[in-house]
Amino acid sequence: MLILGIESSCDETAASLCEDCRSIRSSVISTQIEEHKKYGGVVPEIASRRHCENILDVTRQALSDAGAALADVDGIAVTYAPGLIGALLVGVNFAKALAFASGKPLIPVHHISGHIAANYLSHKKLEPPYLCMVASGAHSHLIEVLSYTEFRVIGRTRDDAAGECFDKCARAMGFPYPGGIHIDNAAKSGDPRAVKLPHPAVAGNEFDFSFSGLKTSVINMLHHAEQKGESISKNDLSASIQATISDIITSKTMAAAEALGYKKIALAGGVSANTGVRAALQKACADLGYDFYMPELNLCGDNGAMIACQGSYNFLAGIRADESLNAVATLPIDNI
Ligand code: KG4
Ligand code: ZN
Repeated sequence: MLILGIESSCDETAASLCEDCRSIRSSVISTQIEEHKKYGGVVPEIASRRHCENILDVTRQALSDAGAALADVDGIAVTYAPGLIGALLVGVNFAKALAFASGKPLIPVHHISGHIAANYLSHKKLEPPYLCMVASGAHSHLIEVLSYTEFRVIGRTRDDAAGECFDKCARAMGFPYPGGIHIDNAAKSGDPRAVKLPHPAVAGNEFDFSFSGLKTSVINMLHHAEQKGESISKNDLSASIQATISDIITSKTMAAAEALGYKKIALAGGVSANTGVRAALQKACADLGYDFYMPELNLCGDNGAMIACQGSYNFLAGIRADESLNAVATLPIDNI
């Protein structure tokens, strides 16, 4: 079984061919980061225009790298939600046209389920059920992965996503967009106990979390230091931010695992590339003898392979879309 996956939900145009659910035959990613950097964040209209220009070449390249023709694929999977609406529409319309022209089935994929599926590509033996923390630039969710195609959200951020918190703190510190990786690099030479940062408490659902209090406190701290003419070590502040985010992610995940009886834990989304988050969750799981999974670094951020992989499982489960498929900017993962 060969599935073509297409991703265009944010600032990466990506296409990939995945064979028998777990094997990547090709993966092509055209990133727009350099262009959006000038504006300090993704400019939606520019993102849509670049997807429009690049999507055909990226898909042709993915087919050619895999030594396959469109006629060889069993289905065309595409991210249809959630994401920037104009960006998603490019991928959805392109995939619809391909499916129409080739007569191949069209398979809708939820972007977050794609991030989770990145773990299947890195760990051939991983099977549901398990508990997954998905932390990306736009989402932070604690999810029960009940089967390859069934999900239950048990906790979520009340405000900013973890990646958004990394990026906004990084911006306040003068790092370029996207700042998560810069905080990660600076943290390597910093002391994680040097700066005391809040661990925002959340009332209500015990598995919900919050990152905006942390972000605000970092921004205020930098302003006060600037007004007083003092300087804060970027390395120490980065290490402290990273340790706090890692701690929030780890404590919520482990509390949910214990309460719900999960001994199999996974991490996913762009923030799963973070050195501190990876190490903290891995250690917490090792201490309790739990199995822990995280994607290889090149599969943490947005890519087509994760969409092709999840598309393969959706295909096997009989999930199809017709020509009325539309893009959806906001859609809970447990709605599919
Ligand atoms: O999953 P993703 O590629 O896009 C969304 O679906 O949102 O995640 C992008 C996010 C950005 O906020 C980026 O700064 C963050 O993932 N990120 C990191 C690291 N690498 C990417 N955050 C912290 N440390 C990293 N090494
Ligand atoms: Zn993503």
